[in-house]
Amino acid sequence: MSLTGQVAVVTGSSTGIGRAIALRLAQDGADICINYVHHAEDANAVQAEIKQTGRRAIVVCADVSQVPQARQLIAEAVAQLGGIDILVNNAGIEVIQPFLEVTEENYDRVLAVNLKGAFFCTQAAAQQMVRQGRGGRIINISSVHEDLAMPGNAPYCASKGGMRMMMRTVALELAKHNITVNDVGPGAIATPINRKTLENPQLLAALKAEIPLGRIGSPEDVAGVVSFLASPEAAYVTGSTYFIDGGLMRQTGAL
Ligand code: BGC
Repeated sequence: MSLTGQVAVVTGSSTGIGRAIALRLAQDGADICINYVHHAEDANAVQAEIKQTGRRAIVVCADVSQVPQARQLIAEAVAQLGGIDILVNNAGIEVIQPFLEVTEENYDRVLAVNLKGAFFCTQAAAQQMVRQGRGGRIINISSVHEDLAMPGNAPYCASKGGMRMMMRTVALELAKHNITVNDVGPGAIATPINRKTLENPQLLAALKAEIPLGRIGSPEDVAGVVSFLASPEAAYVTGSTYFIDGGLMRQTGAL
């Protein structure tokens, strides 16, 4: 198993894409720090599943948008699992609202979780990786919307566009420490963030019509690419985004 002996922290890993990534990295051999903010029972269920595979798994409640909590999350992983080799910045939210009606509160919340949270988790993890002196992997769960505009989702698009330039800049600064930094950009994936669209047959059909591969992606589709980026095979990959979108971004008139 390619990640045997490594420790991975996956933010927002009680459900959805984060959950699938936590399970996949555990299958690959890593010990996992699961993070949640609202649903302890879901996080505990992921922990139980991972423990069945023989890996160590801890659960840490932390709101990554609060910098002291983001730092505490990394510190807990280091204290309980002995270090950190892989950070997956997965925690993310969106509030669908026309631009003209976006409130300051919604803007602040989306930017704080999606961008500020990823920024300071990365900083805390990278400081530890530099101290350890054995390199590391930072993988951000961005979105096709780090590049593709989405009407009605302006704060989210701003956060993911910011994530892209954060990733590119931090990749350059951390390269000398052999820490790679990359984004994965999922398209439409069946997770709770998309529930309203997935439950509305008309919206769902319109979305599928935009996807050349003709289906909504699964969290496992994303986890497979994260697994690759975390693996030794991806040692020479840094500063890039991998889109996992069934061709959505290449579709003319997408969204
Ligand atoms: C958003 C979804 C959207 C999908 C494809 C994701 O990043 O969270 O709401 O359906 O991109 O546009």
